[in-house]
Amino acid sequence: HETLKKEQYRPLFHFSPKKGWMNDPNGMVYLNGTYHLFFQHNPDSAVWGPMHWGHATTKDLIHWEEQPIALYPDSLGTIFSGSAVVDKDNTAGFGANALVAIFTHHNAEIEQKKTGKHQYQSLAYSTDEGKTWTKYAGNPVLPNPGIWDFRDPKVRWHEETKRWIMTLATKQTITFYSSPNLKQWSKLSEFGEGIGAHGGVWECPDLFPLIVDGERKWVLLVSINPGGPNGGSATQYFVGNFDGKTFKPDKKETRWIDYGADDYAGVTWSNTGNRIIFLGWMSNWQYANVVPTTAWRSANTIPRELTLKRVGDEVFLSSAPVKELNDLKTKMEEMTNVTVASEKDFSDLLKNTSMTYSLDLTTANLDDFTVQLANDLGEQVLVGYDKQQNQFYVDRSQSGKTDFESGFAKRIVAPRVAKDTSIELTLVVDVNSVELFADKGLTVLTDIFFPNRVFDKLRLKSPEKIEFKRVNLSPFKSN
Ligand code: FRU
Repeated sequence: HETLKKEQYRPLFHFSPKKGWMNDPNGMVYLNGTYHLFFQHNPDSAVWGPMHWGHATTKDLIHWEEQPIALYPDSLGTIFSGSAVVDKDNTAGFGANALVAIFTHHNAEIEQKKTGKHQYQSLAYSTDEGKTWTKYAGNPVLPNPGIWDFRDPKVRWHEETKRWIMTLATKQTITFYSSPNLKQWSKLSEFGEGIGAHGGVWECPDLFPLIVDGERKWVLLVSINPGGPNGGSATQYFVGNFDGKTFKPDKKETRWIDYGADDYAGVTWSNTGNRIIFLGWMSNWQYANVVPTTAWRSANTIPRELTLKRVGDEVFLSSAPVKELNDLKTKMEEMTNVTVASEKDFSDLLKNTSMTYSLDLTTANLDDFTVQLANDLGEQVLVGYDKQQNQFYVDRSQSGKTDFESGFAKRIVAPRVAKDTSIELTLVVDVNSVELFADKGLTVLTDIFFPNRVFDKLRLKSPEKIEFKRVNLSPFKSN
């Protein structure tokens, strides 16, 4: 593991595959103290290719162990995205508490025939807590009626109707299905016409309940590629109600779980009770295949706990790094009432640390400020708040290697949602990523970068003068 960590852009505490290509997180499920992560994986090359389900496990959502590949391509096709559930009551007959994976088979031969029937849903199960997997002999369980994009099943148990509900991406809509046994599926309804962003294909949906002010709401996540707010792929969400059959959103506006360029295809773990934990793929289809790593490509976001928060009379989704991340923090520098008149340099505090850290700020007022991550080659990433635009931003236009794709070097922006007169900001910085959580996660930006030397400088800047009530810097442990 030590040698892996010495690779230039290998993140310290975000999951990345040892070798080969990774995209979407798949089949995330919690069982007996272990969080399982499966992922879209091409083990033979660091670019997208024949998809397998790679596998990794963690006890604390921070320290990951890669496991042998769980699902290999077979005669029905390669293994595209999907989900996994714990079948407590043995509804499928694979055994009580069996893990059941519901995934898309993608068949390239059928694709060539252009019938649109090349993607269909299938099952695999494990009765040894995810160590070994058997494909169901009756696959596929949901054949394709002739819809070109027909994939990424996310399944959850719906207690009121005592049925499994499948949320499936069907071109530019989401189709809901139900089943008593994971094997027979009936169509319930379709959502998405005339609502939401439609700049690209809809993928990797997720549907889950959350409580706000004592009321239960349903959240629908829909990833879209391209058509994201800052270009390329991104994930929108809707808050509304689901009655076991139909999803009805409360509002028409399109909202994004993360405005950054690098959080895609994220979904939530199953079997975690009321705690809803989300993980995204920390890249963008616009350049994922050409980012400057060679032995492996892509990492995931930090796992995030999702909640609903009311702002005025509207309800928003908010994301916060899971609290387990706190265990990775070493000594904390806690500074109160910090005045920044043009610039304050915190680089000394990073000496002899892993150069990865959490920076938590609270401003006294609403004023412009910038956090600068830099090295002595003149490369930098700027993260900040622009009062006039009421926007947060990450500017990676001078972040080092950027010329692998023409759209990479730019300023990425997000609207501020909160209305408070002070800003609370958490930045989670790993070797090649920054995740910004503003105002308790109401605005989120995740972006990756590839400096030629590590960013060992950290400065706070302001055009004039700004007061911070609090500046906390906590470097992360290096193992
Ligand atoms: C999203 C996606 C999914 C598909 C998978 C293929 O990134 O396109 O829709 O199942 O990747 O790897």
